[in-house]
Amino acid sequence: MPEDNKLLICQNLVKHFTVSSSFNKTSEVHAIDDVSFYINKGETLGIVGESGCGKTTLGRTILRLHEPTSGKIIYDGDVIFDSENNIKPDMYKYRRKMQIIFQDPSASLDPRMTVSEIVGEALDIHGLYKKNRRDRINELLRKVGLNEEHSNRYPHEFSGGQQQRIGIARALAVEPEFIVCDEPISALDVSIQAQIVNMLQDMQKDSSLTYLFIAHDLSVVKHISNRIGVMYLGKMVELVDAKRLYENPLHPYTQSLLTAIPIPDPKLTRSLKRIKLQGEVPSAINPPKGCRFHERCLYATDICKEKEPEFREVESGHFASCHNIGEF
Ligand SMILES: Nc1ncnc2c1ncn2[C@@H]1O[C@H](COP(=O)(O)OP(=O)(O)OP(=O)(O)O)[C@@H](O)[C@H]1O
Ligand SMILES: [Mg+2]
Repeated sequence: MPEDNKLLICQNLVKHFTVSSSFNKTSEVHAIDDVSFYINKGETLGIVGESGCGKTTLGRTILRLHEPTSGKIIYDGDVIFDSENNIKPDMYKYRRKMQIIFQDPSASLDPRMTVSEIVGEALDIHGLYKKNRRDRINELLRKVGLNEEHSNRYPHEFSGGQQQRIGIARALAVEPEFIVCDEPISALDVSIQAQIVNMLQDMQKDSSLTYLFIAHDLSVVKHISNRIGVMYLGKMVELVDAKRLYENPLHPYTQSLLTAIPIPDPKLTRSLKRIKLQGEVPSAINPPKGCRFHERCLYATDICKEKEPEFREVESGHFASCHNIGEF
């Protein structure tokens, strides 16, 4: 891939939260630790991992809705964060290009604002469509399967699926290039999940959008992602194109996630032994030394308890962090 095809590059991104614990002490939550990856223009990069592994934090940190603790972020050739050189440009210009769709549509819409106010607010902030604001709002509502009659209603008057459509219209209003879709369908009825996914895919084709698509499990991201990144406890543990991830998962954690979902392909089901994850996800306040997965890994050896594995390119375009790849 040529360098200029990359829309977003993250290098050694870290996001820690300081939280107060007992007796006036503070602790550091290692929400994102040393994560490096890129997203190509026009692609969908799926991100999966268990609850609390840092998916939302990653999405918000690359938009600088959370200020990164350290690392570097490059968006379309511009450095939008670099802790080493203290580069932290104002994000106003980029806010328009980089948008987010939230997991819980009802919580992300202001209950006191009408639909047209919600969608119009984004236009006003960026001074867009001043003359034909009303037409633009109606056009956006139509685009997401709503209509003009909906524009003076309030969020609580809508179903979850319709609320998510409003959230999508708000994100689209400013003609973004890149959208973080943070589990956009997980709060919705199964029956309407596919409609929303199809709509997001159609929008991507129409407007050449680039997505970071966050989901809980691999079955959701399989069909929509070009590449998939698997996260575990603040770390990216594997990243590769979607097809290869399902056919040849290298990291034991990815393997366990894959065997947990029903796969219609009997060849693949046979080749993967069912691996049940042991124990609980450890705390992000005191992540385990060495490989963060070692306490739950069936293949852990002594080195895994001591040394953190490097996130390396094992095969062309196939990144993984495990000391024992090829040994099991
Ligand atoms: N604002 C915050 N302050 C302190 N800790 C936070 C904050 N946001 C997230 N965390 C912590 O950071 C870690 C990663 O959380 P995050 O919400 O990014 O996970 P997630 O993968 O999105 O989980 P889920 O699948 O449940 O949405 C968790 O330990 C969480 O408790
Ligand atoms: Mg989340």
